[in-house]
Amino acid sequence: MTMPPSRRLEFSEVPVVDIGPLVKGGPTHARDTVAALAKACNEVGFIQVINHGVPRDALERLIDEAARFFAQPLEERLKVAIENSPQFRGYLPLKYKGEIDEGDNLQEAFIIFHERPLSDTCPMYGPNQWPQGMPGFKRAMLDYFVVVEQLARAMLPGFAAALELSHDFFAPLFNDSMMMLKLNHYPAQDAPEHVKEIGVVGHSDSGAFTILWQDDVGGLEILNKSGEWVVVPPIRGAYVINLGNIMQIWTNGRFSSTPHRVINRYGRDRYSIPLFVNPNYETVVKPLFGDAPADFTPFISGDYQRSVYRRIYPQRPSLALNATPAGQ
Ligand code: OGA
Ligand code: NI
Repeated sequence: MTMPPSRRLEFSEVPVVDIGPLVKGGPTHARDTVAALAKACNEVGFIQVINHGVPRDALERLIDEAARFFAQPLEERLKVAIENSPQFRGYLPLKYKGEIDEGDNLQEAFIIFHERPLSDTCPMYGPNQWPQGMPGFKRAMLDYFVVVEQLARAMLPGFAAALELSHDFFAPLFNDSMMMLKLNHYPAQDAPEHVKEIGVVGHSDSGAFTILWQDDVGGLEILNKSGEWVVVPPIRGAYVINLGNIMQIWTNGRFSSTPHRVINRYGRDRYSIPLFVNPNYETVVKPLFGDAPADFTPFISGDYQRSVYRRIYPQRPSLALNATPAGQ
């Protein structure tokens, strides 16, 4: 796959956007919000949003439960290891590695998606794994999934309006969305010795966009045109929303999927909770307007995501073999 090129962006901070009008009244009643969103997507690819409508109590319950989960003995966490799930659900241990060695991610995580019946055409469909004896953890994660998904769906007409598309343009591409909810835990790291020994190495997100809650520790950094890593400061009560590769492709490079990384150099454990908003499995991804790069080939969203997960997340060798799609 060739991506439409990223314009190299010159920014020094992440804009804060009040999305209250968009969430409450839709784009027709949110002209200023849509204009600010369009500008931020063009110029930075990252925004911090306030007045997003996600209730604080659902988030706080999940933060507590996440800390309890990561405090379980490793042996317990490994009972739901992602390497046993062909659909990439469950626990991701520290320094995980998939097919490629990207460096040591000093991040552990827990991943769920919506549950759908196993399917040959959509091989990412399937069941979640849940830790035994932690019903509050499961409930908190599923409850939060509902409210953060509402925010994701409220953003879709905002992005459409920002691109001068009809406001309901994106909705059908997400009605069976492959969105992934992930809990991240980054142990404190005194002195990273080397660029590959950090929380998460520099990357861009693969999907359409990401809605990220980060705690007040700090550590998220994004790359600008001059090659500087610009910090995304924690703002209490705000969410970070950033664009992913699929949005960059859809917009033929107008919106940017900006590279970012995490280094937790602040002496305390850091937690974050991204919702990766991915289209339906079978969505064919290609630029929505303008001429695609000559060597661009349209691709199936779910197959692309799955190839990304296989590169970065571990799979038991027998699963990895079964998981190889025909022809690859
Ligand atoms: C990610 C990511 C940032 C963070 O999981 O893709 O970039 O702050 N996370 O945890
Ligand atoms: Ni990311």
